[in-house]
Amino acid sequence: MSRRERFDADWLALREPFDTAARELSARLLPALQAQRPASGPWRVIDLGCGTGANLRWLAPHLGGPQEWLVVDRDAALLRRWAGQAGFQRLPGGVLQRDEADGPVKVLRHRADLAADLERLPWQSAHLVTASALLDLAGKAWLLRLAGLARASRTALLFALNVDGRHAWEPRDADDAFVARCFAAHQLRDKGLGPAQGPRAAHTLASALRATGWRVRLARSDWSIHPGVAGAEAMQRAMAEGMARAAAEQSPADAARVRAWCERRLQQVAHGALRVGHVDLLALPPR
Ligand SMILES: C[S@@+](CC[C@H](N)C(=O)[O-])C[C@H]1O[C@@H](n2cnc3c(N)ncnc32)[C@H](O)[C@@H]1O
Repeated sequence: MSRRERFDADWLALREPFDTAARELSARLLPALQAQRPASGPWRVIDLGCGTGANLRWLAPHLGGPQEWLVVDRDAALLRRWAGQAGFQRLPGGVLQRDEADGPVKVLRHRADLAADLERLPWQSAHLVTASALLDLAGKAWLLRLAGLARASRTALLFALNVDGRHAWEPRDADDAFVARCFAAHQLRDKGLGPAQGPRAAHTLASALRATGWRVRLARSDWSIHPGVAGAEAMQRAMAEGMARAAAEQSPADAARVRAWCERRLQQVAHGALRVGHVDLLALPPR
């Protein structure tokens, strides 16, 4: 992945049902967050790296009640897709609104680069800063900036679906570990938020916050991709091809070996399975 890589809307759509299922595993983090519900007025939420809105689609019904979301991404094409979502009506000023039984969910889209603009977001008025599938792209300095802003504003954080480095393919292949090592090295490249922490990101953020008394909880949210689940074949294909592309870019001398691994994997997608490790992080300010 390069600094210029963009996240394809089709990839985000393919992974969303697996993200949804995975987040049910970490949903035990939610009661502590729900207890932070504002005493009056709507939840004010900032979604970092919002893509086409998967985080809001999962989280808004779990928060419940009236909500105002500021959704932030550097990719204008992904932000444009929000307007076509079922259930949203357009209000003046570019605001989108979805009417739920327990209150409206309002969305304001904001194009920004989180490397430069993190401090410019309205931290002081937010109740929650959240993201899904973002943290592992970030470097240590950026994560420490994030922790500093949360501390200064006492804003709760919920970061879902951070990869933790585990991949378990079924059936096994002798080169799974080799490809996973090349892929893991590639994941540490700079994606625009500094040299990425990859699987260490959630723990780096957790340590920085715990050191100042924050209440941090982690919960697993693994993808479970197995036969019989809709989209499992396409997801395994996308994972095998994506991992192979990154591994070969990381170790060009091994490109033929990686390609052969990928071809064997593609032959297995109808019967094979894959578990991908993720961890979710909830951080609340000290009492
Ligand atoms: C893996 S996608 C996740 C999207 C969405 N949260 C989801 O769960 O489907 C990562 C998102 O972060 C955005 N992103 C990555 N780096 C960014 C940056 N420096 N500034 C703003 N957005 C960024 C990408 O454009 C992309 O939409």
